[in-house]
Amino acid sequence: MNANRPSRRALLTAGLALPMGALAACRDRGQALAAPVPTPPLKAAAPFPVGAAISVGGLEDADYQEVLLTNFSQVTADWEMKMEQILQLDGTFSFAKADMIAAYAREHGLRLHGHNLIWYIYKPASFEALAGDRAAFERAYGNYILAVAGRYAGQAVGWDVVNEPVAEDGDGYRDCLWRRVFGMDYVPIALEYARRADPNAVLFLNDYNLESNPKKRATFLRLVEDLQRRGAPIGGLGTQTHVQPDLASGAIAAAVRELASTGLKIHVSEFDVTLQHPRLMSREAKLAGEARLAQEAAEALAALPAAQRYGFTTWGVRDKDSWLRHPPNAGDGTDAPLFFDDLGQAKPAAAAFVRGAGGA
Ligand code: G3I
Repeated sequence: MNANRPSRRALLTAGLALPMGALAACRDRGQALAAPVPTPPLKAAAPFPVGAAISVGGLEDADYQEVLLTNFSQVTADWEMKMEQILQLDGTFSFAKADMIAAYAREHGLRLHGHNLIWYIYKPASFEALAGDRAAFERAYGNYILAVAGRYAGQAVGWDVVNEPVAEDGDGYRDCLWRRVFGMDYVPIALEYARRADPNAVLFLNDYNLESNPKKRATFLRLVEDLQRRGAPIGGLGTQTHVQPDLASGAIAAAVRELASTGLKIHVSEFDVTLQHPRLMSREAKLAGEARLAQEAAEALAALPAAQRYGFTTWGVRDKDSWLRHPPNAGDGTDAPLFFDDLGQAKPAAAAFVRGAGGA
């Protein structure tokens, strides 16, 4: 099935004489029965790599692969390359699932973006046990980064070395195990180990709400500018862009422009537009907002100098694959945050992305 044209199944489904209630129920479950929007393959329509977060489970689904391989040229592991999956309770490493993602990317000629090495949410027991001995802790910290980033050196084009370092409200930086031991030096220390592990990967800081919260963006940029002053090997900034459909026009563009003023590469790294909020907005208005924001984000990235256009990644392949359709974030199970609906059909947001990216 070509993901950008209605599949036989989709046509049959759409043609079924469904009672209105069932039709509405299908639509409410997020299975868009509306006519798909003819859209060229996204990766052919943009002057930058177009990526998707993928999972080992998704790769077992032929339709998922069809949408992925038709539209995307870069992948990020949704979960499999994170500490919660790799670091075992006894302190050893398991790369089985991470290797499956890397192998799939290699076999299908997809760029691989590594995500993520250090994240404030993790406080593994094997590290907690060393927190009182800075030298031993740093050996373990460095060993983990060297092992993970080193394993994919030569394949990964970039890494989210530190994920979400800024406090939720933008007032300072996250408290976390890493900061408890190293202070904020945990960030440059992680970047230095990542650089030793992989001399060629673009090394990123990655965070969210940089579009909707100028204070958080300012705090993020203060950290970036300090790292640049210190000569830390930072090469790129990821703005996750998990947004709501009522986000003001221009907010994403302003964030991309300001982040790009650092001269670093920019990755719209986890784009999705939840339809779970705001509640009083109609579904139609939310889908229109989703398309508006997809176009704005694509335009903003395309407007950067070529050297700064790292990529645009949607956080999932089809709506039903999204983290926003799985517990604990699933809401009523009808969210439709991505460019392709549950059936793998292109949505208005996909066509809007193509318009914004400048594609034919
Ligand atoms: O698949 C296993 C299952 O076998 C096991 O029984 C179960 C036990 O808890 O875990 C399952 O793995 C879950 C995994 O998603 C795959 O579904 C993990 O528990 C769960 O923690 C993991 O959640 C991911 C989350 O990050 C935490 O890593 C989400 O899928 C992922 O979309 C989300 O992505 C984050 C980015 O990394 C950073 N930015 C925000 C974004 C959304 O939260």
